Amino acid sequence: MPKWLKDAIFYEIYPQSFYDSNGDGIGDINGIIEKLDYVKQLGCNAIWLNPVYDSPFKDAGYDVRNYRKVAPRYGTNEDLVRLINTVHKKRMHIILDLVPGHTSDTHPWFKQAKQAKKNNFSNRYIFTDNVWNAPSEYRLMCGLCERDGNYMVNYFSSQPALNYGFAEVTHPEWQLPMDHPDCLATRKALKEIMRFWLDQGADGFRVDMADSLVKNDDTKEPTATIWADIRQMMDEEYPDAALVSEWCNPQIAVNKAGFHSDFYLDHIGNGYNTLMRGGSWGDKAFFNKNGEGNIKAFVDEYLPAYLATKDNGYISFITCNHDTPRMTAYLDEDAIKIAYATIFTLPGVPFLFYGDEIGMRYLPDLTSVEGGYSRTGSRSPMQWGKGKNFGFSECDKTYIPVDPDKNAPTVEKQRRKKGSIYKAVKGIIKLRKKHPELGADGDFEVIYAEENSFPFVYRRGKYVIFVNPLDHLTDVRFDYEVKQEVYKIGEYVQSWEKMTLSPQSFVIVEI
Ligand code: NOJ
Repeated sequence: MPKWLKDAIFYEIYPQSFYDSNGDGIGDINGIIEKLDYVKQLGCNAIWLNPVYDSPFKDAGYDVRNYRKVAPRYGTNEDLVRLINTVHKKRMHIILDLVPGHTSDTHPWFKQAKQAKKNNFSNRYIFTDNVWNAPSEYRLMCGLCERDGNYMVNYFSSQPALNYGFAEVTHPEWQLPMDHPDCLATRKALKEIMRFWLDQGADGFRVDMADSLVKNDDTKEPTATIWADIRQMMDEEYPDAALVSEWCNPQIAVNKAGFHSDFYLDHIGNGYNTLMRGGSWGDKAFFNKNGEGNIKAFVDEYLPAYLATKDNGYISFITCNHDTPRMTAYLDEDAIKIAYATIFTLPGVPFLFYGDEIGMRYLPDLTSVEGGYSRTGSRSPMQWGKGKNFGFSECDKTYIPVDPDKNAPTVEKQRRKKGSIYKAVKGIIKLRKKHPELGADGDFEVIYAEENSFPFVYRRGKYVIFVNPLDHLTDVRFDYEVKQEVYKIGEYVQSWEKMTLSPQSFVIVEI
């Protein structure tokens, strides 16, 4: 386990929307370098950078054309190395995005693979043995290439799946087992890409669709064996580098695949979703002040996962990410502050999505840009201040339009505003850093989390945390002696062995 990870508080930077330093309407690496102090001042000490590699951008860069080359629109490889070095000088860390499950259909490997004549890359992707063979249980692209066969895709049609083999070979005429030399060659190529960026100083990777490598893999354990092998290479060669998975199954991702942390994603109906979003536009979210949420749904899923994995790695809570509607679509400002305060006082390694700290809006009406579709609304340019395009870019037309609301929040305004989301985020991060018990490794115990009941109370070492999302008072039995108040949003009164909490409040006391 890399030591730095346990104190890490990540900031996710979506490069195309962060800061445009050369006025072409799109964010770039030099822009990120200029804004590193902003990230640091917020209290974040680590960065997750979404893909910056050469790509035709049919899926915002998750369709990689060259894993080893920075997309010219973001700068050069030298710029990325300079970013990495500057991050390190500021005593921060940076992980890059690794997309192991698929490439762009314009990647040179794929250009070779789709040729009729057999070559070294014929098995780098998954093709059926002839175009008339297209079993419907697989997502296949049919009749598009010279080669007589259909190829499997991993996500959009432009993202052919790389071939790591099949856990169960059900069609031996075209499916290869995981230990086939050509599948092992794909794995080797992936390791080489990882080494390439780790050798330039990257502190690890956020791994895209980490569970998607092996096909016909219902248990996901065969896929986990590949990662366990990769983790072994990391332990031997890059022991300080971190691996964070997009998997959302920590029992497998952490315990079996060897990821240091696994994202708790916004999947409809899961614990994270019921906490933050839930129902139709947040009407059943625990943090919604209407009281229709159910904390038990979160705890029933989270607690077993936490207990099963806490000795091996972490679960990563996110405020949001580039695939998920921002919380502003569902919750009011007070609810958001309480939600963030909760995220930053739970165990594991937290991630803050750019702009969430100022309460940027989710923009549901934006036309899709670069394969974003409904996700485009969470990817609009960062709002820095008063200038043109809220200070994001000097260009007349930004690649995704900025928030059309002139009164949209900006860093400048949020820094001045009393009780702003920005100030709340900064405050809670500072607190987490000051008290290791509130951090990644501190103990976690649920004190009160009952079916459709409020508040939610949990303990982190000597600290007890009360969360009341409701628009009215609530109370809970509490007979500990309070040594001191540590933090509060809203008010509380302790009397008659009861803790009474004001509407939309979040309180930490030391016992
Ligand atoms: C998950 C990424 O977060 C998402 O943005 C992307 O479209 C898919 N994986 C496919 O790579």
